[in-house]
Amino acid sequence: MYKIATLNKISPVGLARLTDGYTVIDNTDEANGILVRSQAMHDMEFSKDLLAIARAGAGVNNIPLDRCAQEGIVVFNTPGANANAVKELVIAGMLLAARNIPEGLAWAKTLAGTENVGKAVEKGKGQFAGTEIKGKTLGVIGLGAIGVMVANAAEDLGMDVIGYDPFLSVKAAHNLSNTIQIVDALKDLYPKCDYISIHVPAMDSTNKMINADAFAQMKDGVIFLNFSRDKLMDDDALEAALASGKVKKYITDFTDDRVINFENVIVLPHLGASSAEAEDNCASMAVDQIMDYIENGNIVNSVNFPACSLGPVAAGTSRLCVIHKNAPSALEAITGLGLSTSNMINKSKGDYAYTLVEVTGDVAEDDVKGKLSGEDFISVRVVK
Ligand SMILES: NC(=O)c1ccc[n+]([C@@H]2O[C@H](COP(=O)([O-])OP(=O)(O)OC[C@H]3O[C@@H](n4cnc5c(N)ncnc54)[C@H](O)[C@@H]3O)[C@@H](O)[C@H]2O)c1
Repeated sequence: MYKIATLNKISPVGLARLTDGYTVIDNTDEANGILVRSQAMHDMEFSKDLLAIARAGAGVNNIPLDRCAQEGIVVFNTPGANANAVKELVIAGMLLAARNIPEGLAWAKTLAGTENVGKAVEKGKGQFAGTEIKGKTLGVIGLGAIGVMVANAAEDLGMDVIGYDPFLSVKAAHNLSNTIQIVDALKDLYPKCDYISIHVPAMDSTNKMINADAFAQMKDGVIFLNFSRDKLMDDDALEAALASGKVKKYITDFTDDRVINFENVIVLPHLGASSAEAEDNCASMAVDQIMDYIENGNIVNSVNFPACSLGPVAAGTSRLCVIHKNAPSALEAITGLGLSTSNMINKSKGDYAYTLVEVTGDVAEDDVKGKLSGEDFISVRVVK
């Protein structure tokens, strides 16, 4: 029976996917797998029995990735599982801005208790008349899990969409509507867009990428949406662009003491991934990935080890799963075992590598462990 510990509340929909061979426990000291959301794990000691940690969500800065790699603990996340939730809120953000909904809502509230509210509404509503998004141009910066969905949904709503992503993946390109225009440089996107939505990760290379130079290239009165990360925005430049009217409205899921006080900003309290469905999707994906690793040795969506999969273990075979240093001597030692191999895969990521060997019949785990015990080797398991 494998023991899965939960840190944070993990969606019951996800936990229900654990099959009979698993039990959910509270004590991480005894766990073979840990499911976590945002709890900080940097100060935790990990037991020798811990095989994997799965983060139900995307960000993994609460997990000590390097230490886990050194200890042979595979860390998974669930990229894309909350993409639809973010997409829907981005579309809502465009509509909030286009139709002056926050201002209209706030005004309507002030009418409570006045005489003949219906008449007052009809008299005063003109001040909130907005525009439709149909026929407007949306620029999408970053065409990953979320950006592709936003681009496709906006096109379905009648917008013209221009996308930019210098590292567009084959999967994203496949999922993107083929009528969406892709440009190779932001200078070809900025001047054409009425709305711009950014969907790139926060990294050194994207820090403050929306700055004075970027705003200068945009249309006057552009509406800018940021549901990615606050670090992407140069707040000084944003403040100036809002004050001058270059940016008509800024809709963001992130704020701080400063941005919340800017004029013409619609601030949402980091609600992008906060939907019941997103939590279920993240937990389900985390559970599936941890079970696939424990039972088959397959690694899908790990952040500290390479993707490496041979599908389910075939009947009549055993699978040797070896986490090792990324050194030719390690691979030589594995092939030198002389096992009756029917399939094999080896992948590396930085200093680490992972090898799966499908072997006809049984493999004596203790025997193999004894032979692969040098400093090149971090973890050796046999599953069947
Ligand atoms: N608001 C929320 O609650 C919430 C929830 C989930 C994700 N997010 C954020 O949304 C962002 C996107 O998430 P995702 O799941 O789509 O990620 P993803 O990894 O699937 O996609 C990111 C895309 O950005 C592209 N990219 C990287 N650098 C770029 C650059 N300089 N210019 C243009 N494109 C670039 C990558 O090639 C990739 O295709 C992340 O910052 C994530 O943190 C926010």
